[in-house]
Amino acid sequence: MFYYYGRKKQIVRYYPSPNYNTIIEPFAGAAAYSFHHNASERRVILVEKDQKVANIWKWLIHDATLRDVQSLPDLQPGERSTEFLHIIHAATKMAFAFKRIKVTPVLARNWEISKRVFAKHLHEVKHWEIICGDYTASPDIEATWFIDPPYQGESGMGYRHSSAQLDYSQLAKWALSRKGDIICCEGEGANYLPFVPLLELKGIAGKTSKEMLFYRSGTRRRQLQLFEMQAQQGAALDGDSAALHPRQ
Ligand SMILES: C[S@@+](CC[C@H](N)C(=O)[O-])C[C@H]1O[C@@H](n2cnc3c(N)ncnc32)[C@H](O)[C@@H]1O
Repeated sequence: MFYYYGRKKQIVRYYPSPNYNTIIEPFAGAAAYSFHHNASERRVILVEKDQKVANIWKWLIHDATLRDVQSLPDLQPGERSTEFLHIIHAATKMAFAFKRIKVTPVLARNWEISKRVFAKHLHEVKHWEIICGDYTASPDIEATWFIDPPYQGESGMGYRHSSAQLDYSQLAKWALSRKGDIICCEGEGANYLPFVPLLELKGIAGKTSKEMLFYRSGTRRRQLQLFEMQAQQGAALDGDSAALHPRQ
C-alpha cells in the first residue's frame, strides 16, 4: 500500500502463492505479499512491532475514508515534512530516525503514487487485522505465513526494531512450528534455516544481491501426513486381519 524500506513489491511475484485463505505477515512493514494476493478476498493478519508503522495500518484499516485519502495534499519538492507517513516514502534505510525530511522530487512522486494506490485499494484492506507487537503475538492458526524479518546482519539494521534485536535461532524454531505454508525471506549468508536462492537483484553501480527463500508448503505437508496415516492404518488393518485369520 505504501513505500517502505525493504518492501517486497517489486519481487513479490517470485514467491510461492498462498495455499490458504488466511495470510499472516508477522513482520508486516508495507505488507506487499498480502496486498498482491487478492487482498479483498482473504483474511489478512498483520503484526508489526514498530508502533508508527502499525499506526499507519490502523489508520488505513479503521479510520481512513476515501474522501480522507483523496484530500491528502500533494508534496512539493523543497518543502519540509515531519509526517512519518511522508518520511517513509523516501524508502530509505533508518527512515524512523528522521524527525523532519526535505521533500525530494523522488519522494514527491512516490507520495503521489501512494495516494492513488490508497484511493483505489483502500476498500480492499478494511477487513484486515493489525496487531502492534512482537511477531510471537501472531495467532497460532493454520495459514500462509509470509515471514519477512529484518535480514540477519547489516542489511537488517535499517529499522527501529532491527536485526540486532532479533534472536534468529528462536525465530527459526518459531517459524518451523507454524501450521500451514511457511515462506521465509532472507538475504545471502543467512544461516538459521536452509535457505535457497530465489533470485538475484541488480543494484546500483553494477552491484548484485541475492534474495534467499525457505519454503514449506502446508498442503503438501498435509498430503504427506494423510498418506502416512493411511499407510499406518493399512498396516494396522493388515495386522488385524492377520489376527482374525491366523496362518495355520
Ligand atoms: C523487511 S521489513 C518487512 C517488509 C514487508 N514484507 C513489505 O513488503 O513491506 C521487516 C519489518 O519487521 C518489523 N519488525 C522488526 N522486528 C520485529 C518483531 N520482533 N516483531 C514484529 N515486527 C518486527 C520492522 O519494523 C519492519 O517493518
